[in-house]
Amino acid sequence: MGKNHDCMKIMSVVAARPNFMKIAPFCKAIEAYNANCQTFSEKVEHILVHTGQHYDINMSEAFFTALGIPSPDVNLEVGSGSHAEQVGQTMMAFEQVVREHLPDWVVVVGDVNATLACSVTARKEGVRLCHIEAGLRSGDMNMPEEINRLVTDRLSNLLLVPDRLSMANLHKEGVPEEQIHFVGNIMIDTLEANRKQAEKLEIADILKANQYGEKALPEPLHPFAVVTLHRPSNVDRQEILQPIIAFLRQEVSRQFSLIWPLHPRTRKNLEAFGLLNELNRHPRILLTQPLGYHELLRLNMDAEMMLTDSGGLQEECTVLGTPCITLRWNTERPVTLREHGGASVIVGNEIASVQKAYQETLQLERQPVRPDLWDGQTAKRCLEVILNASS
Ligand code: UD1
Repeated sequence: MGKNHDCMKIMSVVAARPNFMKIAPFCKAIEAYNANCQTFSEKVEHILVHTGQHYDINMSEAFFTALGIPSPDVNLEVGSGSHAEQVGQTMMAFEQVVREHLPDWVVVVGDVNATLACSVTARKEGVRLCHIEAGLRSGDMNMPEEINRLVTDRLSNLLLVPDRLSMANLHKEGVPEEQIHFVGNIMIDTLEANRKQAEKLEIADILKANQYGEKALPEPLHPFAVVTLHRPSNVDRQEILQPIIAFLRQEVSRQFSLIWPLHPRTRKNLEAFGLLNELNRHPRILLTQPLGYHELLRLNMDAEMMLTDSGGLQEECTVLGTPCITLRWNTERPVTLREHGGASVIVGNEIASVQKAYQETLQLERQPVRPDLWDGQTAKRCLEVILNASS
């Protein structure tokens, strides 16, 4: 089966925060499979590579600990940089790792820069490539993630899709049927595996432990809304970010306390635009560090509303039923939209549309929805597909 070794070798890659909740269940599925193997040669050797794109403790290490992901076998320590720097450095470092370990498969997840870099490298080294979360398309080539998705899917031998709309995208692009497998959403494996643990957390404790500075928690804390923004299209330009903040301060904070975990990119920009202090001073708004997985899940369970530009949160809101306003012009995850039965609505970032959607969303109740195969068993199916394709 493999090259110069007995058991099958799978090398999987993580890089940035949204990858960690996708790889955790895959690692567990391999462990569970190995525990049932009688002989060494039946087992799967799993080599976990962290490219180091996200490196702050609360953007990376905290997730390994909280989700029980084994320590990476290899860390490429690529860090921050322009897209070309991140991709180029990842390719150079990953090529060495592939040559040293000679995996049978490289498994990539999601759509970050490392997903693209490691896909290209794997195929150029003659290694088979499997993409978990294949087929997502926003149709927006200005999004770096869309380029990453297209290249990765074009190169993948196995394309494991989370929903039927993504499967249809691949059919339209002419991907051979036998390479596409509908496995469900692996992020929801993590949500289901961690729901109970999250439920035990007290919201006030989460906020006190993670808030910036010493200020008092908003009083009353409930009802509250959660805000997360990190996309360059929303946070890199003051003329976009400032009206969003004015809307949050002047309108949303009248109905809700607002909890806003700040991504490092957003915090840097708020500081640079001189907006951080005024936000921090507002009695109804609480800024926090980037939160851990269980902590954000706990907030999402009780939030009256989510205002976000994150794709992963759109999915989690769908399963939890949290009414979600997505500050983007398009989404690669249409299955999460209200028109497809999900919890989220796309509003762009012009304030008039955000306000309108906000007023409509105020009328909505929490309504959990579960798209097909978002059942917590996706990682097992991913591994089965890879094993079947290898035999
Ligand atoms: C990346 C992904 C995006 C994902 C997001 C989630 C790509 C193209 N984008 O965007 O799809 O939704 O992660 O977080 O791969 N920084 C820190 N500490 C860290 C990580 C980043 O300070 O641990 C800073 C960097 O120095 C940089 C900024 O945050 O200035 C952005 O980081 P970067 O990895 O370039 O992209 P993200 O915006 O996080």
